[in-house]
Amino acid sequence: MSNPTHNENTSSIEAVNRCVNKRISTRIAQVPLASFIFNASGPRCTEEDELNLLGASASAAIMTKSCTLEPREGNAEPRYQALPLGSIQSMGLHNLGYKAYLEMLPRLKQAISPQADKPIVVSVSGFSLADNLTMVKAFQASCADLIEVNFSCPNIEGKAQVGYDFEQTERALEQLCQLGSKPIGLKLPPYFDFSHFITMANIIKKFPVSFITCINSVGNTLVIDPETESAIIKPKGGFGGLCGDYIKPIGLANVRAFSQLLPSSIDIIGVGGIKTGTDAFEYLLAGASAVQVATCFEKEGIECFDRIAKELDSIMAAKQYSSIAAAKGKLKMI
Ligand code: SIN
Repeated sequence: MSNPTHNENTSSIEAVNRCVNKRISTRIAQVPLASFIFNASGPRCTEEDELNLLGASASAAIMTKSCTLEPREGNAEPRYQALPLGSIQSMGLHNLGYKAYLEMLPRLKQAISPQADKPIVVSVSGFSLADNLTMVKAFQASCADLIEVNFSCPNIEGKAQVGYDFEQTERALEQLCQLGSKPIGLKLPPYFDFSHFITMANIIKKFPVSFITCINSVGNTLVIDPETESAIIKPKGGFGGLCGDYIKPIGLANVRAFSQLLPSSIDIIGVGGIKTGTDAFEYLLAGASAVQVATCFEKEGIECFDRIAKELDSIMAAKQYSSIAAAKGKLKMI
């Protein structure tokens, strides 16, 4: 189940080669990516067969589901509902536990074509600083290429999002950034006030954080079905993370604000409502070095990466941008 066959490996090379295009290749923390687009730590990246499928796809990286110390079944069902312009979810960090991903990484790495610049990004989401220290230390000694620490899951009952607690974030970074030389990034919640952008940027600047990922879902939203007079997901009394088109303007604003506040050495990965090349291009103009796709990947499946990459490439060609660097952050003001 977990190891791709020869045919799958061949299609992996083809899929990745289709995307090896100088115009949309990029780097995160100096790690090369063949395209601007990969999966978010979200849907379809928990199991080994799902991660192998990403390895064989045009996703520019293999991003794992956020892991915890112990395996988790996640929240009660129904915990995901598609909406006309996105989704609401409260998955509850269903994952195999960090040891399973540690053990899986060499197999995933081996299955990736040597010609493909396809890094593996592991996502960790501990319930305490001690959990995160244990997991980051272990992944620092693994063959993962990048480590994303998730400070923004809104879906665990009784656990606040670390990214909204600035003191806790600073205390955590003091220790998490000392554990090894692999690039560390932070997945942040959406911020809605300039004082918060500035406070978080000033904390990040104190530490060797290599990248940030903006934004996680907009947490604790409520969708009601008037027919049944009920919330449409079960966990947390119906409160869940809003995803998809609804949140793209918030994602763009967060990428833009942080790109203005942080040094250009800290890469920003945009997430939130990316389902077309145009969406990806808007994030590029706002200052993103790459984008991650979640809801669209859930709805459309693995083909979305190739499609969005081709659409972005066409837009850039038509606008005569020859590289990601040429368009990055070039948002015009009126
Ligand atoms: C979840 O598993 O609940 C979503 C993960 C996240 O929001 O970080």
